[in-house]
Amino acid sequence: MKDYIQNLLKAAVKKIDTAHDIPAEMLQKIRVDRTKDRAHGDFATNAAMMFAKNLHKKPIDIANDIISVLGNDPRIAKVEIAGPGFINFFVNQEHTADSLAEMAADDRLGVPKIQSPKTIVVDYSAPNVAKEMAVHHLRSTVIGDAVVRVLEFLGNKVIRANHIGDWGTQFGMLIAYLEKKENESGQGMDLSDFEAFYREAKECYDQDEEFAVKARHYVVLLQGGDEYCRKMWKKLVNMTMDQNQKLYDRLDVTLKPENIMGESLYNNMLPGIVQDLIDKGIAVEDHGAIVVYLPQFKNKEGEPLGNIVRKQDGGYLYTTTDIACIKYRTETLHADRIIYFTDSRQHQHLETVWAICRKAGYCPDSVSLEHCPFGMMLGKDGRPFKTRSGGTVKLRDVLDEAENRVEQLLQKRGSNLEGEERRQVVHNIAIGAVKYADLSKNRTTDYIFDWDQMLAFDGNTAPYLQYAYSRIRAIFRKANDEPGKIIIKDEAEDKLSAKLQSFAETVNTVGQKGLPNLLCNYLFELAECYMHFYEKCPILKEEVDIETRKSRLALSALTASVLKQGLNLLGINVMEQM
Ligand code: ARG
Repeated sequence: MKDYIQNLLKAAVKKIDTAHDIPAEMLQKIRVDRTKDRAHGDFATNAAMMFAKNLHKKPIDIANDIISVLGNDPRIAKVEIAGPGFINFFVNQEHTADSLAEMAADDRLGVPKIQSPKTIVVDYSAPNVAKEMAVHHLRSTVIGDAVVRVLEFLGNKVIRANHIGDWGTQFGMLIAYLEKKENESGQGMDLSDFEAFYREAKECYDQDEEFAVKARHYVVLLQGGDEYCRKMWKKLVNMTMDQNQKLYDRLDVTLKPENIMGESLYNNMLPGIVQDLIDKGIAVEDHGAIVVYLPQFKNKEGEPLGNIVRKQDGGYLYTTTDIACIKYRTETLHADRIIYFTDSRQHQHLETVWAICRKAGYCPDSVSLEHCPFGMMLGKDGRPFKTRSGGTVKLRDVLDEAENRVEQLLQKRGSNLEGEERRQVVHNIAIGAVKYADLSKNRTTDYIFDWDQMLAFDGNTAPYLQYAYSRIRAIFRKANDEPGKIIIKDEAEDKLSAKLQSFAETVNTVGQKGLPNLLCNYLFELAECYMHFYEKCPILKEEVDIETRKSRLALSALTASVLKQGLNLLGINVMEQM
């Protein structure tokens, strides 16, 4: 409806602009917005004010001109001028009811597939091999996965790229240590505690000279493609990613083993890229290293910052790999958009890589490079989220604790769910709460991890939304009637209808901006509108006539569908009973 009115308005302004005083790009800026107070209509625009200068008229006169050419439209009940020249649109309720019925009959709930789908590479999760996936990886994984689901739902071709840290000089040490452990135990080992493994490997490396020599030798062999070292390296990668896959599955995250495109994938591209940068005059030799200087990045003294792409010893860096990675995503994967979900501290790194790629012609301007940064996860005390002893908090432990807390909560609420159903409900609430707590904050800010807040059954939380859904489902278990024709009469029905109608718009914006919190806020507001409607507009009470009941059931059913679809796009499950 918003787009519809916006287009009507554009056409009307074009009509009154007989002398073509308004530049085309200004016409494109015409907007209508939903009003905050429905007494002023459903949508409003400041278009008349925008063009006062161009048209040499008072806004109020322009507003009158616009209204006179708008004519009658079946979808609009009334148009009014307010204040110095705002135009307010009142939507025809019957028409709203019809469009809600259409939405309910559509399995996409009125969200159209985009006309020209794009190939979008989404770079997210990206844990490191032989390291525990820590709770800060949760942010990239959860936020990235929600955006992936939205982009896919909108009809794009989405390529999930799990850019895992699976390469680097530390692998010599890790291979040597894995070999030592296997020799000691006489069999394959179960790598369940990465933190300890890494620490012990480092201890051996620092204390045992013979071990260190071997480790350094293994790095060289590994880089040269030695079969044994490759095999040991692959074992480390697989052990890590098998464990991470269990976490993805547990988190209901859509990443699969085939989405792994780690740093090692780009290895054989690196020498060619460095040579090409030299040939193009973009990189130069400096004290034996190969360095790129970009005029746009300067240090505190105002001198250009150097970015090493090959070290003196011939080794390549995180930056070099990311350059190759963009070339690959552009040339081989044919990406139209590449979106990175990483910590805001990697912003400068990405900016540098992008600038080099643009300059070298590895990525034309038509390919959009986007960083969706996020802040840190903090404890309730406002300090970085750590265990009591100061270690990194393991994701697995967080999920265990979430499930324990939910189980206790169900006991307190006197839940009579049992067995597999109870287990599933505990899982859905616990995982939903942890994910939603992260998704619902604007990702650019740091966020405070707070159990009590995220598990509350009221407020902007997953349990609240899941509860709203199961409450509606309970109505249908009791009702003997089917949903029928929607008739909007009460103010609460009107508000709920307006909210339901902006679902498509919200999903589109999330896809454009990579901000799932907008969808969270929408769903929260929808649930609140529903709760208000539920209080004000009885459904199953005796005195409610059958038509009204059927209409209210229809509004309830549509709300449940939107809640379910919306939460599904966030990667959160709903349940019939909780
Ligand atoms: N593995 C990296 C880390 O843990 C994140 C990788 C992000 N993606 C990229 N293309 N650089 O910090």
